[in-house]
Amino acid sequence: MIGVGLGCVWFGWASTTFSQPVATGPTTTPTLLDFAPVSYFQDNCARCHGSYGQAYESGMAARYTDQELREKVDTMASGPAQAPLAGAALDAVLEYQKSLNASVPFVHLASVGEGATPTISGEVTPGAKVVVTVGDTRADATVDGHTWKVVWKESVDVKNVRVDVK
Ligand code: HEC
Repeated sequence: MIGVGLGCVWFGWASTTFSQPVATGPTTTPTLLDFAPVSYFQDNCARCHGSYGQAYESGMAARYTDQELREKVDTMASGPAQAPLAGAALDAVLEYQKSLNASVPFVHLASVGEGATPTISGEVTPGAKVVVTVGDTRADATVDGHTWKVVWKESVDVKNVRVDVK
């Protein structure tokens, strides 16, 4: 396993399995947010909780209420991770934690470009499929690791962008 520190042995690594997201995820239209929650997790949390959270016990989040999990993430971010979170960024990392534990894919919309051929992009659980819809037009995004993007063939009004993940 990559990046497992000795300080984290009490998680019970050997018994933990990580299931790739299955193709039954929710339909999600995330709020546009110029913050990268999956990259944040990989940079600040994965050294203790495993790449893409694979070291969490399955069903971990179910033991917490939303508010408790939010406090946990907040405490972890400002404590061991030394990378404090607030507001919408904290919400996004919280949603990512919940998706990990529900084994459903997470999707995030980071940017909608301007001009005649704008790039629409964000982050996603690796291995998931992202479909972008603008008005009546849909297109599969290109997923590379935990990022996705699609280049649109006409200008886009951010209000009309819909993102689905499977
Ligand atoms: C230096 C190692 C370390 C880092 C970095 C770290 N954590 Fe933790 N985390 C722990 C330990 C140890 C526990 C178990 C003890 C506890 O709950 O306080 C834990 C517990 C948790 C739990 C509860 C898990 C459970 O099974 O109940 C969550 C959620 C969590 N961390 C999220 C995060 C997030 C999000 C980050 C990044 C912002 C992060 N952690 C960074 C060590 C770390």
